[in-house]
Amino acid sequence: MNLNEWTPICRVDEIPVLGARRVARPRGMDVAVFRNGEDQVFALLDRCPHKGGPLSQGIVFGTSVACPLHNQTIGLDDGCAKAPDEGCTPRFSCRVEAGQVFLDPVELATVALELEAPKAGPCK
Ligand code: FES
Repeated sequence: MNLNEWTPICRVDEIPVLGARRVARPRGMDVAVFRNGEDQVFALLDRCPHKGGPLSQGIVFGTSVACPLHNQTIGLDDGCAKAPDEGCTPRFSCRVEAGQVFLDPVELATVALELEAPKAGPCK
């Protein structure tokens, strides 16, 4: 896909190091765009595969993020929980050119629209 067909999101240096920036989507859950200590950038649905925790609030280490709710480790490159935990969250294609971060507009408009953020409420 030609670079001018990608959606510009922000500059790499606008994402906190070892943190994330949320990208809102009109018809679906936010996407979390992460930056690690090597300035690599990754994008996942902002929803932990365990119980829907906001991964954008987690701490990045290496190529993983620790979910802020129950501390499961989620791989930033594949969206999957590290063993012995299970489950994966959708990942988004991400491209960086000259310090600018781009996401795929087709994925933004179509991926994981059926998923909702969990409702807050008492534990069962
Ligand atoms: S919701 Fe992420 S570890 Fe439980």
